[in-house]
Amino acid sequence: MRVEPLKRSFGAKVYDLSLPDLNTEQAQDVYDLWLKYALLIFPGQNLSNDQQIKFAKNFGALEFDLSPISNVRNDGSIRDANDDDIVKSLRGNMEWHHDSTYMPIQAKGAVFTAHKVPSHGGETGWADMRAAYEALDQSMKDKINELSAYHSYEWSQKERFGHKDPKVSEFNSYGFDIDPKPLRPLVKTHNETGQKCLTIGRHINKIPGLSDQEAQNLAKELEEYACSNKEWVYHHAWEVGDAVIWDNRCLMHQASMWDLSEGRIMYHSRIEGDPIAEAASNYL
Ligand SMILES: [Fe+2]
Repeated sequence: MRVEPLKRSFGAKVYDLSLPDLNTEQAQDVYDLWLKYALLIFPGQNLSNDQQIKFAKNFGALEFDLSPISNVRNDGSIRDANDDDIVKSLRGNMEWHHDSTYMPIQAKGAVFTAHKVPSHGGETGWADMRAAYEALDQSMKDKINELSAYHSYEWSQKERFGHKDPKVSEFNSYGFDIDPKPLRPLVKTHNETGQKCLTIGRHINKIPGLSDQEAQNLAKELEEYACSNKEWVYHHAWEVGDAVIWDNRCLMHQASMWDLSEGRIMYHSRIEGDPIAEAASNYL
């Protein structure tokens, strides 16, 4: 196994390792590397769906095994770039977020694989919420250490991207019906590394003690600060066969736009969060 760190505050590319054939010792080494780097990129693995699910289970139980993230229908046709609800969910994913902050238990991480990539664009970006928190000035740390935010997918996706009624939509509306909306501290301590990190992103719509506009402005201010520093952000240009695993507790991510008349087919496996450490404070 050869590890090549990215020239960033996080992330590494890993070569000379076959993910379908990991033995117990190698799986532990990969897990430890993942905790250290938060993002591991494995070029040229060409995992089947079953191999992806098996690999993802090295990191814990799965919130869900496998979901296509794609603008291509099963028959190979391309979805409508503007009106299709699945494409609206892809557009939503182009904003910075952590996965499943809108669920009672936030996701621990995710495995993502590339099966068809567009000729330009469609990169995935990640941003280091540990480095961003660490570099905040003390007055902002003091301010946000006291604050928690409500995360709502119904708001960030349905209201902002105009989904059709879930009953008539192909989009499965996973997470729309969560009630009450999960409340999460803006600053969290990672349960395995002990590092503090920001938990922010597109699903924040309310912060107790602030007006909705103030809450959304603060979330946006923190996001722009955290996701504009080149040291803390990395965008990966996909090649077919690439596989990645990221730590959703301390990284945000986003997809980049591409020409939506071209197909992009990715598969996502979501790793379940710890029932205590990743629980929203109003679900404990
Ligand atoms: Fe996501």
